Amino acid sequence: MTTLAVPMSSARPANPSHIGPPAPTLGAAANAAPDGKRKIKIQTTDMGFFYGTHQALQKITLDIPERSVTALIGPSGCGKSTYLRSLNRMNDIIEGTRVIGKVLLDGEDIYARDVDVVELRKRVGMVFQKSTPFPKSIFDNIAFGPRIAGVRSMATLAPLVEQCLKQAALWNEVKDRLKDSALALSGGQQQRLCIARALATNPDVLLMDEPASALDPGSTARIEDLIDDLRKNYTIVIVTHNMQQAARVSELTAFFCMGRLVEVGRTKQLFTNPKEKETEDYITGRFG
Ligand SMILES: Nc1ncnc2c1ncn2[C@@H]1O[C@H](COP(=O)(O)OP(=O)(O)OP(=O)(O)O)[C@@H](O)[C@H]1O
Ligand SMILES: [Mg+2]
Repeated sequence: MTTLAVPMSSARPANPSHIGPPAPTLGAAANAAPDGKRKIKIQTTDMGFFYGTHQALQKITLDIPERSVTALIGPSGCGKSTYLRSLNRMNDIIEGTRVIGKVLLDGEDIYARDVDVVELRKRVGMVFQKSTPFPKSIFDNIAFGPRIAGVRSMATLAPLVEQCLKQAALWNEVKDRLKDSALALSGGQQQRLCIARALATNPDVLLMDEPASALDPGSTARIEDLIDDLRKNYTIVIVTHNMQQAARVSELTAFFCMGRLVEVGRTKQLFTNPKEKETEDYITGRFG
């Protein structure tokens, strides 16, 4: 079975409270980033995606560097969510879909036949636009993934839950009510809970599909601060319709339009000096 291992050189420092053996080395599979500094975490080459006969993505070639935030922008229906979901094979659950081209994680093809999709989704976690807490306690939401992985001991689970809630900047608000239902939290708190839950499976990559679009400005700011913290240790890919947000949180921005990747570049450059007219028209509000 392909393990989709993280090269040791790019792996986060081992987290003793997380479960599982250390990731084995992968050798030369990971590529250097174009700037020669960051490794490429996710490499998409000539990728296409079909819902039945409808081709939603065409020839997407995009390198996502590790430990950085990459924003995906573009008009509604252009394929941002489809692309994001293809990075952890979440689209597999939609019948009649098909992927062509290559999607590599740490140099390994995530669509190879022998890939364990459950393992892949642990390594590439996802947070959705609408927060999706389970109708369980706050504690049980975070402990859910580790429990499925076989962790039963409270001595392991309790510090893990605490750590994930701290990483998601939620601990101080919930530490005295871990047994309360997660559904009683505010929308912004629920979204941070979902981020904490995604962190509990010790991912390398976090995919976020409009994570703050349903939140008030205060909660949005907290999510953005959190993304800023997480970028040090995780590779984050975020879809947003809010261009100010893309400009605030991301290092790279990719502009999609009608199923194609029109342009990708450093966020500041893309917003101030886009190469393509289509990008300029979109960011200046002339269409989309
Ligand atoms: N489950 C599905 N079945 C069939 N077609 C789909 C499905 N999901 C998306 N599509 C189609 O794929 C294309 C891309 O949709 P996608 O949801 O990826 O766009 P998006 O850029 O995320 O849009 P938005 O900004 O509105 O969320 C659209 O034409 C859409 O109708
Ligand atoms: Mg979408």
